[in-house]
Amino acid sequence: MASLTVRQLDDRLKKLLRMRAAKSGRSVEDEVRTILREAAEDTGRTVLDAFEPPTARSRARTSRTALPVETKRVLLIIGGGIAAYKSLDLIRRLKERGITVRCILTKAAEHFVTPLSAGAIVGEHVFTDLFDPAGEFDIGHIRLARETDLIVVAPATADLMAKMAGGHADDLATTVLLATTAKILLAPAMNPRMWANKATKRNLRQLAADGAAFVGPNEGEMAEADESGVGRMAEPLEIASAVQKILSAEGTQLLQGRRVLVTSGPTYEPIDPVRYIANRSSGKQGHAIAAAAAAAGADVTLVSGPVSVADPPGVKVMHVETARDMLKAVEQALPVDVAIFAAAVADWRVANAGEQKLKKQPGKSTAELSLIENPDILATIAKRKMQRPKLVIGFAAETENVVANAKLKLISKGCDWILANDVSPRSGVMGGDRNTITLVRSSGTEAWKPQSKDEVAATLIARVTETLNEEKG
Ligand code: C5P
Repeated sequence: MASLTVRQLDDRLKKLLRMRAAKSGRSVEDEVRTILREAAEDTGRTVLDAFEPPTARSRARTSRTALPVETKRVLLIIGGGIAAYKSLDLIRRLKERGITVRCILTKAAEHFVTPLSAGAIVGEHVFTDLFDPAGEFDIGHIRLARETDLIVVAPATADLMAKMAGGHADDLATTVLLATTAKILLAPAMNPRMWANKATKRNLRQLAADGAAFVGPNEGEMAEADESGVGRMAEPLEIASAVQKILSAEGTQLLQGRRVLVTSGPTYEPIDPVRYIANRSSGKQGHAIAAAAAAAGADVTLVSGPVSVADPPGVKVMHVETARDMLKAVEQALPVDVAIFAAAVADWRVANAGEQKLKKQPGKSTAELSLIENPDILATIAKRKMQRPKLVIGFAAETENVVANAKLKLISKGCDWILANDVSPRSGVMGGDRNTITLVRSSGTEAWKPQSKDEVAATLIARVTETLNEEKG
């Protein structure tokens, strides 16, 4: 993507931009980000319109659609350890969650990753030097320290932790760490003997007493041959969820006080005690939705079929196998404000499931299974007279005529929204990490760009939040 320096804009635009930034209390850089985000969402506006100071209406729209984590800014400080390469993946994971990332590399980190590779993933200039005139002109170390909601140090080396505990400020990273009032999350990574050293333990206690949060280190093999123990940096996904937890706990919890129910995964319908009918659903999408709702402060119940993905943190999980058990669990979880049915429920179960393992019949090369329709959980809940959730949302996994079929489903199931997606084998959705959704509502359809399942979850929860808050007036 092309990069743009504000300094290169003409004077009129620069002036408009500064006025707009001053009015909304943002930095010029953040204002440009906001304008581009709004312009991308709202293709009807001209770019010049966007530079005018925001009106009360546009301000209201921005604040209403904001998810707690979506508008957050993380400053990632990459320290000099072999685990630094994992921090490149961490940048990607944070960006997937809609978090804006800025990055500082320490001098030691530059032995492991380059400013070019980190910058390519961050999508902007990476900061390395306290006395870099260009960096200081663009933003400056005090603004780097101030314009962030959270600083993540990953890997946090023994040396960096010692400097922080002692209040040193002899390079850009330590200066920013000393100058910030933002929360700091450390992902320590070092040799197990260094981790166990009394000096490191002392620094750790000091940093914890100063309010720092920690994720990891984990136990396992070290980069050095024949070394193992506690000292491996936490995995990027673990760090990303620790970040999300801190940001959503500190942000406005837009779904606080709301109850959200999510179904996820496949169902298993027994043929006999050892065999069952299942499908390829991984549960990734439903679990991501439950996690996003919990991150927005909702009280979430997740009713999950058998999956290998982990239970999301902060969510009440009811594990079930069959469609009938899933319906029972869903009914138990009522009343809720929002019910999102992402599970791939088997349409049929075996009518004559054997109590004993079915045996091959000598001389018979075929066997018959008689199938009977399962309850439609989504339709049952959507058509309830009592305790119908305010918003009932289903998925339509189709292999052809995706939107047309979803529109029919919206009516036949009686739900409020359908998230339609193409699950034909060429789409790679089943079991994959990405999804392309069209949101179908009675008021119209909205095609979302292809995105990760985490991003789909964040977008959906943002829409849900908007709708519930509109109702509240
Ligand atoms: O009818 P179809 O399976 O395409 O509908 C998909 C939607 O209906 C999904 O939201 C799914 O969770 C829900 N569903 C259900 N119970 C069923 C079948 C589907 O809740 N028995």
